[in-house]
Amino acid sequence: QTKSHYNFVVKEARYTRLCCTKNILTVNGQFPGPTIRVHKGDTIYVNVYNKGKYNITIHWHGVKQPRNPWTDGPEYITQCPIKPGGKFRQKVIFSEEEGTLWWHAHSDWARATVHGAINIYPGINSTYPFPKPYGEIPIIFGEWWKNDVNKVLTESLESGGAPNSSDAITINGQPGDLYLCSKSETFKLRVEQGRTYLLRVVNAAMNLILFFSISKHKLTVVGADAMYTKPMTRDYICISPGQTMDVLLHANQEPSHYYMAARAYSSAAGLEFDNTTATGIVQYSWSHTPLSTPSLPHLPNYNDTQAAFDFIRSIRGLPKKYPHEVPTKITTHVITTVSINTFPCPNGRQTCEGPNGTILSSSMNNISFQTPNKFDILEAYYYHINGVFSKGFPSFPPLIFNFTADSFPLTLNTPKRGTKVKVLKYGSTVELVFQGTNLVGGGLDHPMHLHGFSFYVVGYGFGNFNKSKHPMNYNLIDPPLLNTLMVPKSGWAAVRFLASNPGVWFLHCHLERHLTWGMETVFIVKNGKSLNETLPPPPPDMPLC
Ligand code: C2O
Ligand code: CU
Repeated sequence: QTKSHYNFVVKEARYTRLCCTKNILTVNGQFPGPTIRVHKGDTIYVNVYNKGKYNITIHWHGVKQPRNPWTDGPEYITQCPIKPGGKFRQKVIFSEEEGTLWWHAHSDWARATVHGAINIYPGINSTYPFPKPYGEIPIIFGEWWKNDVNKVLTESLESGGAPNSSDAITINGQPGDLYLCSKSETFKLRVEQGRTYLLRVVNAAMNLILFFSISKHKLTVVGADAMYTKPMTRDYICISPGQTMDVLLHANQEPSHYYMAARAYSSAAGLEFDNTTATGIVQYSWSHTPLSTPSLPHLPNYNDTQAAFDFIRSIRGLPKKYPHEVPTKITTHVITTVSINTFPCPNGRQTCEGPNGTILSSSMNNISFQTPNKFDILEAYYYHINGVFSKGFPSFPPLIFNFTADSFPLTLNTPKRGTKVKVLKYGSTVELVFQGTNLVGGGLDHPMHLHGFSFYVVGYGFGNFNKSKHPMNYNLIDPPLLNTLMVPKSGWAAVRFLASNPGVWFLHCHLERHLTWGMETVFIVKNGKSLNETLPPPPPDMPLC
């Protein structure tokens, strides 16, 4: 059932959730969007037609696209957006990935409703590293606003404050039966007793890290970010926006129906927390509707950082499946802070809605990224167009201080603005350390995502990273190979990768509000020496700005 050509028509459709009807942007009228099915190593073509009112781009999250940044998708990074009425034929090259990934819009906040799963089956003569599941089901988490998502974005940009929280978490597009008007459409997963199912779990939520569990059932994680992992059995999973997981579910309970539930994890200090829970039902065949209502599964408390990190840190790679070795000799060290910041309210305005009348921003190494809008960075790099970006992204924080202290002088809150990229030599081995700071708001977790690569996550910790101490405890034996990692609140995380994919690759926090505020940068991997280490020319129908 795999295909090599897809048509994605981006257009509005009317959807009703939470007793309200509105137009949302969809692909082919579907929400969540269509599932792409491929085998490892396949190349596909997707014709993207923009039949909506706004500019759009589509990104293939976690697909490395070797030597093919041209159709990677982030707007103004690797392409100009597809204008209303426009079309772009995107080539998607699958290489090492196997398991579950997803695709999503990568322009403004369109990804709230423009997203879908990518199932990557084993290569033709290969099998899963576990018994073949009886069924495979995507489980896609999302967030639903009653308001138009574009309005949520523009209002928050105008006010300078935090965007309004969503009105519900969704499982495969449905908030579930704890919400009014939702009960009859609650997502149902039908199973047969004694069978094993592969859940292809995607967190497509905009701003929420989630806990998920199923009543009376264990979940066995066997893959993350389209790489197999050591099987790990737990009562719950914790998954951040951008991450995907392959999870086995054994239908080994009495035939009945059981709740599945997803709820936000949030470490934000002092923020009001909305305790909403999305539900779905696991329905055994042959069971008749029981008399009593099923009970909700146990989920960790919304602010249980320990529960989140016990889970995240326990995921281990499967070394025999690694596409290349864990780099041990590092040629390029980069340490970057990831911070929430503020800018003063612009001239002529009394006050803004950020903390103390400021506007909220965010940064990496004290630079709040300014996205270009006349050219994209890949085009500027390829054609040597000056003035679009500068090569000034610092390899180390420009100022060293106790990043995770309780309070700071206010001057540290304000970053610089700029379009600064980091240039990497082809073939260099990179160690990248993310250092969280507690600058504004007291620290948060950041799911950091890199396009074009997977990285080995070799270390995590709380507090300040210490370069003479912490690397001695790195896991160089079985680190997970991921494309998105959660940097812990008031802590750090270290990754290693081989810069073997020439091109322009986006690096950003996958919490959409942090991306909007500037928590991102770009890695440019220079061309290698031989012809197959250099970029081919762009496709003929690249959208123009
Ligand atoms: Cu899920 Cu920049 O991507
Ligand atoms: Cu973030």
